[in-house]
Amino acid sequence: MIAMPEILTIAVSKGRILKESLPLLARMDIVPLEDPETSRKLVLETNRPEIRLIVVRATDVPVYVEYGAADAGIAGKDVLLEYDGDGLYEPVDLGIACCRLMLAGARDRPDTTGRARVATKYVKTTRNYFAELGRQVEIIKLYGSMELAPILRLADLIVDLVDTGGTLKANGLVPLDKIADISSRLVVNKASMKMKQALLKPFVNNLARLVNP
Ligand code: ATP
Ligand code: PRP
Repeated sequence: MIAMPEILTIAVSKGRILKESLPLLARMDIVPLEDPETSRKLVLETNRPEIRLIVVRATDVPVYVEYGAADAGIAGKDVLLEYDGDGLYEPVDLGIACCRLMLAGARDRPDTTGRARVATKYVKTTRNYFAELGRQVEIIKLYGSMELAPILRLADLIVDLVDTGGTLKANGLVPLDKIADISSRLVVNKASMKMKQALLKPFVNNLARLVNP
């Protein structure tokens, strides 16, 4: 499905990625007509009649883009690593919302020797990480506040995003290993890239030049 040939629809993860994307878009002279932080609208027109933004949950960005409901999107690499799909190009590392995906454990019992229980929302990435190490673990899927799991002994280890390390420290946890560097990426629908080239290519190229001058 390629929606509206004359309009570019850009899906942006709400929250911190949206916050950090707006200044980048503004530097490309793309400014929403309403404040996305306060507007209840989910489709935001911009000062450019041919470009509109949709603001969605982080994990939904690649879904909108893969199916062509959005032509491009901005999503964290953490989300893209978890996503099983193949209708996406990932042409630009935007260098925003940077952090690390880390293995962490309790300060007083940082790791176990046996079959550890690992709590995470990043099940696929965690499974691949331990498979490469040849280590058997039990993975427990959580949807947030992973740092709580070792405190309550739900899990021995967690895999979660770390930036300043403040959340780990505040919860008696220590970082054990870095699994991946994370930043936000521009993702583009493969069919849109062909069928909306005249609109999409300048958008991708301008963004690439902006972040890699
Ligand atoms: P949702 O509410 O939809 O579950 P979320 O709580 O994961 O989403 P955010 O915390 O805004 O939403 O995170 C969105 C993205 O921002 C993550 O996918 C990641 O790429 C990046 N991110 C998350 N935490 C940090 C952090 N502490 N520092 C920098 N970037 C981060
Ligand atoms: C993210 C992440 C960690 C924290 C790490 O949570 O899930 O909990 O940031 O950042 P730090 O190392 O600088 O402390 P966020 O603040 O986005 O909260 P939420 O995902 O639970 O909403």
